[in-house]
Formats: sequence, structure tokens, C-alpha cells
Amino acid sequence: MTDTMIGVIGGSGIYDIEGLEGAEWRDVPGPFGAPSDRILTGMLDGMPMAFLPRHGRGHVHSPSSVPYRANIDALKRLGVSDVISIGACGSFREEMAPGDFVIVDQYIDRTVAREKSFFGPGCVAHVSVANPTCPRLGAACATAAEASGSRVHRGGTYLAMEGPQFSTLAESRLYREAWGCDVIGMTGMPEAKLAREAELCYASIAMITDYDSWHPDHGEVDVTAIIATLMGNAARGKVMVRALPALLRGARTPCPHGCDRALDHAILTAPEH
Ligand code: ADE
Repeated sequence: MTDTMIGVIGGSGIYDIEGLEGAEWRDVPGPFGAPSDRILTGMLDGMPMAFLPRHGRGHVHSPSSVPYRANIDALKRLGVSDVISIGACGSFREEMAPGDFVIVDQYIDRTVAREKSFFGPGCVAHVSVANPTCPRLGAACATAAEASGSRVHRGGTYLAMEGPQFSTLAESRLYREAWGCDVIGMTGMPEAKLAREAELCYASIAMITDYDSWHPDHGEVDVTAIIATLMGNAARGKVMVRALPALLRGARTPCPHGCDRALDHAILTAPEH
């Protein structure tokens, strides 16, 4: 039995969390290098919390240069049990509009230039990511997001692209029409896979900023338009975070979905090696 500690990874527009008791920005070194930034720790509504700005304060890391392994490792080292990932995304669905939040539950990983595993030569492991997010944590995030006044879609498939350029029109149509994706972003992977390898519960809130490029009534995606929507999303994202401790309070039983036991049947390398 482990006590709950929330770890929030904030995306574009979310670079700190206000109101943490005993707030302290801490260096958390580890074998995978430095995380994106120092990690803000403190108590929120009686629950320990760690907050990490994914792109660093000042937005210095591009999606490809985010140190995903160091970030997840640092949260694990601090004692985090539940990771809440917040990030901006584009939408492939008319009904999923800019300003809405999507509780992502599936991914298609099209990233190509990132370290994707803690394992490798010396210790080989294959975890299942068939269901890459934690339904229990996702449900709490959905309730918290609704309490923040956001329109919430429970479930959605996230296309993780490498970037940094946005998609071509042909790619946007392919992901939407042939692949059935709901949203697109540049940071959801390999974060979710690494959280599973680290046996952490993981939920992802994708905050929609635009319709990508497929929508006939909306122009091409550009950062200026994204930022305008991002600010309102980020403000509601922070309100959502404040609602989480009350929803996750209490002694934590083992995760009913097995997130905290993901390695039990995953390691191939013999123990003596
Ligand atoms: N982040 C926000 N909007 C996006 C889009 N349309 N494509 C990829 N990443 C995004």
C-alpha cells in the first residue's frame, strides 16, 4: 500500500502551480540526465504534489528535446504514484472544439527521434501498453476537469507526431479519416510508455487549441492562434489540478488496473545477468 502523491507534467502555457504549501523548486538528478527543469514540490490540500513544466520555464525544450526519461525517472524518485500529463493538442473532430479537454485513452505513436525505454542491453523488458492510461486516474481527471468549467470528452485517440512542424493537409486527413484519431500533439509519447515502464498510474488531459489543418472552415494551424486559446485552457487546467487531491484522497490500494505492477511479467533477462 502506497500513499498517493500526484505528479503533474504541465505542457505549453502551464509553467507553475500556485498555492502549494511549503513550495520548493528542487533539483532531482538521476541516471537519465536532468529533467526539463527543477521540480516544484509541496502540499496541495493535504496531499503531496510534484509539478514539472515539460518544456521548462521559459519554454526552452522543443517536443523532440524534452528529456522524457529523466522527467519520469525524477517523478518516480520523488515518490509520485499518479502522473497527470497536461498538453496542448489539435482536434480531428468537429465536436471536439478548441477549449475542450479530452481524457486520452489510446495513442498512435509516430515519434521517431526520442529515447523510448528505460530498458535496453543488459536488462530487456517488454511491458504491455495495450491500455496505456489508468482508467481510475482518468476518471478523476475528467471529474476535476468538469469542475473547472471545461467541456470534457472521456476517451480519445491521440496521434503523437514528432514535429516541430505541424502536419501537412494529407497527413491531417490520413490521421482523421483512415486512422480514426481524435486529437494530435507532439509530447504524449513516449511519456505514456515510460510511465508504464516506471509502474506509475498515468492519465493524459489533452487541451484542444485548434482543428489542425483538415477543417474546411478553419485555416492552417499557427502558433499565434494556438496561444490565444492556450491561455484560457491553461487557466482552467490549473483549476482542474486544484480539484484533484479531494478526488484521489485516502490510502492507496494497489491500482485496480495493475499500472503499479506492470513489470511483474515483463522482464526477459535472467536475474543473474
Ligand atoms: N499542439 C497543438 N495543436 C497541435 C496540432 N495541430 N498538431 C500538433 N501539435 C499540436
